[in-house]
Amino acid sequence: MATQNTVTLFLFSSFLFTVITSTQTCPNAACRRGDPVIRFPFRLENLQTNSCGYPGFTLSCDREKQTVVNLPGSGPFTLQGIDYGTQEIWINDPNDCLPARLLSLNLTDSLFTGVYYQDFTFFNCSLDYTMYRLNPIACLSSSSNTVFATSAFRVVKFLSSRCNFITTIAVPVELPFYEQVLSSDLSSDLRLAYVVPGCGRCESRGGRCGFKNNSSLEIACRNAPRHGLPRSARYAITIGAGVPTLLFAVGLVCFICGRVKVFSQRRDRLSELSSSVAPQPTLVAGLDRPTIESYPKVVLGESRRLPKPDYTTCPICLSEYRPKETLRSIPECQHCFHADCIDEWLGRNATCPVCRTSPERTTLAQSP
Ligand SMILES: *[C@@H]1O[C@H](CO)[C@@H](O)[C@H](O)[C@H]1NC(C)=O
Ligand SMILES: *[C@@H]1O[C@H](CO)[C@@H](O)[C@H](O)[C@H]1NC(C)=O
Ligand SMILES: *[C@@H]1O[C@H](CO)[C@@H](O)[C@H](O)[C@H]1NC(C)=O
Ligand SMILES: *[C@@H]1O[C@H](CO)[C@@H](O)[C@H](O)[C@H]1NC(C)=O
Repeated sequence: MATQNTVTLFLFSSFLFTVITSTQTCPNAACRRGDPVIRFPFRLENLQTNSCGYPGFTLSCDREKQTVVNLPGSGPFTLQGIDYGTQEIWINDPNDCLPARLLSLNLTDSLFTGVYYQDFTFFNCSLDYTMYRLNPIACLSSSSNTVFATSAFRVVKFLSSRCNFITTIAVPVELPFYEQVLSSDLSSDLRLAYVVPGCGRCESRGGRCGFKNNSSLEIACRNAPRHGLPRSARYAITIGAGVPTLLFAVGLVCFICGRVKVFSQRRDRLSELSSSVAPQPTLVAGLDRPTIESYPKVVLGESRRLPKPDYTTCPICLSEYRPKETLRSIPECQHCFHADCIDEWLGRNATCPVCRTSPERTTLAQSP
């Protein structure tokens, strides 16, 4: 038994070594679980060194552990999402009054520009025109005045003769609007894009963008290294599951235990079928509750921001995500689902329903 454990430890440490060397000197970082994963061209101050990020792409974590981007001339915004492939970011106001920030937004000196713009005209009214179904901007209004923003010509005309005109702003909105918006509280994230450095193609192909060397700003695309676990090591870890105490190993072990359970469950199911015994509800083939609970959960806001912007429906129940619904994502592949749907699934299967690989395995064997 002792020799077996020694062998296991040896194999395990060589596996550890592979993982650490292949993540190089700039590991991904995040302010907290569920927040955008930060890597080149962005870098998190204090967590990633200067050479991990492009100049002007430095982010920080605020006291609430929100990811913060400081736009020159406009100040700090919370970073809600990054799409490394399309080179876009989604930002909002840390103090929940985005319209106030829009009034002083000036992107001229920043590295970001809007993707879609829509003109909004702001009015300061002494009377409350909500009876015309106008949606006021609560955080700019008070008991004596109500502030509205509109993109509709007829509302501009209506309010012009009744209220004080504040300004007209081209708002970098999240989605292209083909219609006029009668009124908006403008609380949805702003969508911005960056052009330099051009890492989008590399990222879309699954590569990793970074500096070519540390003497110029030239960038290079490296494909994600293959570091699959040798079969022997995987076996060794399975039999030595009680030995490793390293924190991140726990997840891997859980995964392997999960797989073992899957197989035994499958065997059990076969024998159940052949002997027509009623299913035994105590047998669990998927992940355990604490593991599932450890996966990040988000409650959708009105803007329905998702970690991956193109997924708007839950792959399990095939219904569209709606504001205020709770979603859960599998951290490694970032696939998102209704929390209820994925919790039930993971309770029975230890794999992501979309990519079919186990969450833990994806991190280790990420292929280019
Ligand atoms: C935005 O900032 C630039 C540079 O700081 C300045 O020249 C420009 O006038 C500003 N634009 C507005 C609308 O204030
Ligand atoms: C609206 O008008 C009130 C009173 O005239 C003023 O105190 C307030 O600052 C104004 N609000 C904005 C956003 O301009
Ligand atoms: C860094 O890369 C540039 C451009 O490829 C090259 O000209 C330069 O010699 C490199 N410097 C070092 C120290 O490798
Ligand atoms: C590049 O960075 C490494 C480690 O930070 C350093 O040892 C090396 O001298 C640097 N090379 C150049 C050309 O600056």
